[in-house]
Amino acid sequence: MDVVDLRSDTVTRPTPGMRSAMADAPVGDDVYGEDPTVNALQARVAQLLGHEAGLFVPTGSLGNLLGVRLLVPPGAEALCDDRAHIVRAELGAHAALGGVTTRTWSAPRGLLDPATVMALAAPDAGPYLVSTAAVVVEDTHNFGGGTVQDLAALRALRTWADATGVGLHLDGARLWNAHVATGVGLAEIGGLFDTATVCLSKGLGAPVGSVLVSSAERIAQARVLRKRQGAGMRQVGILAAAGQYALDHHVQRLGADHARARRLATAIADVRPDVVDPGTVDTNIVVLDLAAGPLAPGLADAARERGVAVSVLGTGTARLVTHLDVDDDGIDRAIEVLVRLLAR
Ligand SMILES: Cc1ncc(COP(=O)(O)O)c(C=O)c1O
Repeated sequence: MDVVDLRSDTVTRPTPGMRSAMADAPVGDDVYGEDPTVNALQARVAQLLGHEAGLFVPTGSLGNLLGVRLLVPPGAEALCDDRAHIVRAELGAHAALGGVTTRTWSAPRGLLDPATVMALAAPDAGPYLVSTAAVVVEDTHNFGGGTVQDLAALRALRTWADATGVGLHLDGARLWNAHVATGVGLAEIGGLFDTATVCLSKGLGAPVGSVLVSSAERIAQARVLRKRQGAGMRQVGILAAAGQYALDHHVQRLGADHARARRLATAIADVRPDVVDPGTVDTNIVVLDLAAGPLAPGLADAARERGVAVSVLGTGTARLVTHLDVDDDGIDRAIEVLVRLLAR
C-alpha cells in the first residue's frame, strides 16, 4: 500500500518534467560564477523578491545562517520567536558557526506582534549588555501551523528597523505559500527585509536548493562565507534547473495544497473540535493539539500502520503537511484513517 506521507512538504520527488529539465540544463563551474542556469535562477529569485542579487545554497538552513551572519557580527544578538526554525531546528548553527546569540519572544501561532519585538530589542546596549543587530521573521511560520504574517505588522517592523538601524532577515522557506494564500506580492513582502531566504525544496517540489537574496554587496560577502562553510558548488545548474522548473510550474498549484489542508482540518474538527480549528489553517500545514487526547507518538504509529504518515512535534502535537505528492484521493484516505483514530 502506498503511504500518504503528510510528515512534511520536503518529501516530494521530482516530477518527470522536472527531471527532464534537470537533465537538459546548461551548466558551468559555479565557484567561478560560470553556471548559466544557477546565474539565471539567482537573478530571477532576487528580482521576484525585490532584491539586487541572489545566491544559490543547498539548504534553507545555510541560507538563514548566511543571511543572519550578514546582519549580526559575532557576539551581537538576533531576536526571533521561540518556535522559529532558526532556534529550534538549525542545531545551534547561528551560535556555533556565526557567534550569534539569540533571544526570543513568544508568539501565539508564530504570528509577529511588532510591539513585542520593539520592547524586547536593545539596539545599542553596549558595552555591558548584548546589542540587538537583527530580527528574524518566519513567513509562513512552520511550527506555528503554516501561518501567514500580517503585512501591516511587517511594515511596522520595517519602519522601526529603519529608525533603529536593526537588520531584518526573513526565513521565507515557505514564502511562496504566503504569497499564494494572500495574493500579496513576493516583492512586497521580501522587499521589507535586508536579507531573505526562500526554499525550492519544500512546497515547490525541487529535490534541493534555496536562494538567499539581498543587496549585491551583501551577496558578494555571502558568496565568500558560503565557500568558507564548504558549500561552494560546481555544475549545480542541474539542481538550479529543478528550481527554475518549480517556479514555472509549481507556485500557483500551492493553492490546491492549501485547500486540501483545510479540508483535512475540517474533517478532523467535525469529530474533534478540541484538536484543531480549521479557521487557523492559512496554508498547507495543519497542527493537531492532542494534549487532551491520545499522545501524538501513539497516533503517528497507529496512522502509519494504516498507511498515513504524520509527524510528531512533541508529546501532544502532530503536524500534517499537504504537498505536490498528495492528491485528493490521498486526502480522502488520510481523513478516513485519522478521523477513525481520533473520534471518541
Ligand atoms: C521555516 C523553515 N526554515 C528553514 C528550514 C530549513 O530548510 P532546510 O531543511 O533546507 O535546511 C525549514 C525546513 O523545514 C523550515 O521549515
